Formats: sequence, structure tokens, C-alpha cells
Amino acid sequence: MDRRSFLAAAAVTFLLPSQQAEAQQTRTLKTDPFTLGVASGDPSTDGFVLWTRLAPNPLSGDGRGGMPSRGVDVDWQVATDERFSSIVRSGTAEARPGAAHSVHVEVAGLEPGRDYFYRFRSEGRLSPAGRTRTTPTGETPLSFAVAACAHYEHGYYTAYRRLAEQEPELVVFLGDYMYEYGPSGYTALAGRVRTHTPGKCETLADYRLRHAQYKSDHDLQRAHAVAPWLVAFDDHEVENNWAGSVSSTGAPAPAFARRRADAFRAYYENMPLRRASVQGAVLRVNRRVSWGSLARFHLLDTRQFRDDQACLDGVRAGCDDRLAAKRSLLGADQWRWLEDGLRESGTRWNLLGQQILMAQRDYKVGPGREVNLDSWDGYAAERTRLLGSLSGTSNPVVLTGDAHMHHLADLKTDFDDPDSPVVARELVTSSIASDGDGYRDKTWIAEALQENPHISYIDQRRGYIMAKVTRDDISVDYRTLDYISRKGAPAKTAHSLTIPATAHART
Ligand SMILES: [Fe+2]
Repeated sequence: MDRRSFLAAAAVTFLLPSQQAEAQQTRTLKTDPFTLGVASGDPSTDGFVLWTRLAPNPLSGDGRGGMPSRGVDVDWQVATDERFSSIVRSGTAEARPGAAHSVHVEVAGLEPGRDYFYRFRSEGRLSPAGRTRTTPTGETPLSFAVAACAHYEHGYYTAYRRLAEQEPELVVFLGDYMYEYGPSGYTALAGRVRTHTPGKCETLADYRLRHAQYKSDHDLQRAHAVAPWLVAFDDHEVENNWAGSVSSTGAPAPAFARRRADAFRAYYENMPLRRASVQGAVLRVNRRVSWGSLARFHLLDTRQFRDDQACLDGVRAGCDDRLAAKRSLLGADQWRWLEDGLRESGTRWNLLGQQILMAQRDYKVGPGREVNLDSWDGYAAERTRLLGSLSGTSNPVVLTGDAHMHHLADLKTDFDDPDSPVVARELVTSSIASDGDGYRDKTWIAEALQENPHISYIDQRRGYIMAKVTRDDISVDYRTLDYISRKGAPAKTAHSLTIPATAHART
């Protein structure tokens, strides 16, 4: 049975005919409330979080999605089979108006290392079904996807669709899930194939509405329904290049604190995150997820706890402040948490998922140097300390978003010394949609690679990364699409590599 017929069968079997008739009579929502799809995330050995958000009219301008100002019950089911004939967990959650009628169900008590299927029902309406997975024990291999940066105006979400078709067991999403700009607020070199909801996101209603617009995309829904996601935000879920408590547009601190709180709230409401992520004013996305004894993901937050960018941000030359020893990207608490996690990790592989380019990158061809002060180059001393820690860690690999281009880099304790040892490989995923089809002029890539010999591959087409992890190695495919300004582009593997596990790994 293919997935489409399974969905049709599932729709029939969730309710007995008598129940369906009863539900028709008691229904108060006139149209389907499951327009935003379903999602799951943060798997453990015995469970995961399930998500949906009711929105019969997702683009209603007040950000309420067409829902009434009362709570609505949502039934949920978890089964071991696609037909939902063997249901192992079920219950009812309340979708409250204070949470934008989202539900976050944390399911526990399941078996490790297997697929589960889930769906919701509310007021007689049935959601699409999703597939998710508990994490295994032992060294069971893992296939996962890495994605980032999905500007809705810049192109269709074909890359999400192609990613879903590859049926990864896990999706790691590294930021810029949505963009806060108003229509045409950020076009860069791209055209525009569709239009953001009105205005720049500044209020809770704005952010809720924008998330609903993004979530309405069926290719995105497909990618969520195929596997659990590990999500972390970067800057655009709040505001371009914000830093900790500092707005990049000079907003007074109290106003930015309010805006950030609203953006965080809407982000949580729309993401498959566990309740423990909400910690007062902090939205905690730095966390660890282990895939048995094979791999441990260390998800980092390089945005919320950072010092303000040095020298007014941007790509610049001659900013000595960026080298200051005291500057921090992770913040003291997260730094300690990461150090502890790397030291105590007993897994063979340690995969750091984080937002911004870690490798040094000189943007100026020829003599002199220009670097991006929003990336790790703006926090160079802390990078050196982190790479020191990684050199004592079992098989570290760094996963990165933000750049809107695939990169493959060697991370070295001294990037300017050709003999400096390689501590880890950095796999930077291109964007799902941001910057559109890509740039026509490619001559700069050869120059950029020559200028940065520790970077061996750059590709400006849209795409994502697929990786397969085993005890012995990680095989990596950089997937690209030639266009997203029209629908239907195929994805192809533009570059591949295998990262062998090192002999001195501790496990
Ligand atoms: Fe981005």
C-alpha cells in the first residue's frame, strides 16, 4: 500500500460509522481545521512529541486561524502500523486559544528504535497521518537530513518534497524556518514567486499568521509527516541578525524583549518542541538527542545567548574586536553544558547542529581579509576554544545552516596554517528556498575556494544534505535543485563524501 492509499484508509478507520454521524452533528468547525499538517520531534528511546495546530482559516488576518476563542478537544492516536489497526497510545489534548490552538503531546512508554504512526481528530475531522520514530539502542545505523533557510517568497518548497521522498529517519533543521520581513522585504538576488502576509512581523498575531502561511505549504507538511524533526531557530524567526537581548535595528531593549517573547511564543506554538523548551523568557533549544550508542546530536543555540556583533555587523575588514577573548557566542551556561556533554558523551559520533558558519571564511579575494561578523569569525577566540574541545571528542562533525550555499570545510585550530590538524569536518547545508534559483555567475566560487583552502566545496543552488551514519563512517550527499522558481525540479547529488570514523575514537 503506498502512502496515499494508507492515508485514505486511515481516514476511514479512525471513526466507526455511528461515531462519524454523531460527530457530524456536534461539529462546530465548518471546515477542516488541520490545514497546517502534523509534525513530530525530539525523539527519545520511548517516545517523541506530536504537534498539530487547528486553523480552519489559516490566513485570517488576526492570526487566530479562524478558530473560536475557546478551547477545543483534540484526540490523538499512535499506532504501530500505517492502517492504525494496532493502536498503542491514545488520548485527548486541549487546543487552547492562548496557544494558538496548537497541541503538543509528549508520548512515552513506547519501544525503542521503531516507526510509529500518529494522527489527530477534532470535532469529527481527521488530520493527515504522520510517521515518526523512537531512537534505538546500540549502534543501529541512522539516515538523516539536514535543512535550513526557507524564505517563502523566494521559491517553491520542492526541496522539502524531495527530502521527504528520501524518507530520512530524522530531519535536523538549523534555522530560518520562516522570515520576519514584509512582502519583498528581503529579495536579495532572487525574484519572488509568492508573497508574505502583510507587514513585517512585530506582534504575536503577526508571527502566528506568518507561521500559518509557511505551514500551509503542502511540501513542507510532507517533510514534517515523514520523520521526527530536531528544530532550532536562528535569527529570522525573530529579526535579522539579532544578538541576545540586542535588536539589530536599534529598538529599545524593552520593546525588543517584548518582540522576542512574541516571536518565541509563536515559534513554540508552531514547532514540535517539548514543553521543557519553554523556560520563562528563554526558549531553550540547545539540547541533546542520542541515537543509541552510535551518535549524539548536540543542538546549539548561537543566537539567544551571544554577545552583540563586533564592529556593527556585516562582512567587514579590520575589526580587531572580533578577536577579543571574552566575546562569547554560546554564553557561559551553554558553554559549560556543551563541554560537559562532549566530555560525557559515550557515543561513537558527536554531531553538533548549529546555525552559522564555523570555518573561517575570507570574503576578500587577494591580499587583506573580510569576514562575516555575524558568524563564528566574529567570535574567533571562542571558536578556537571549541575546536580545542572537539579535538578530544569522539568523531565530531559539525552541521551548519545560514549560508544559503552548500559548503564543505575542514575545521582547524589554525586556519592560516596548512599544517594545522583537521579537528572535524563542517557540513554546511544550502537553503531550502532562500535566495531563489541561485546565482548565474559562478566564477567567484573558484576564487573563494582558492582564497580559503580549508573549504573544498561551495554550491549556491538550493538543496539539503542527506547523511547515513554507521559505526565505520558517515556517507554524505549534498543534494541540489536547479530551480525553485517553477515547481517540480528533480533533486540530484551534486557532491558526495565519506567521513571515516577515526581509529582513536573512544568507543
Ligand atoms: Fe537564512
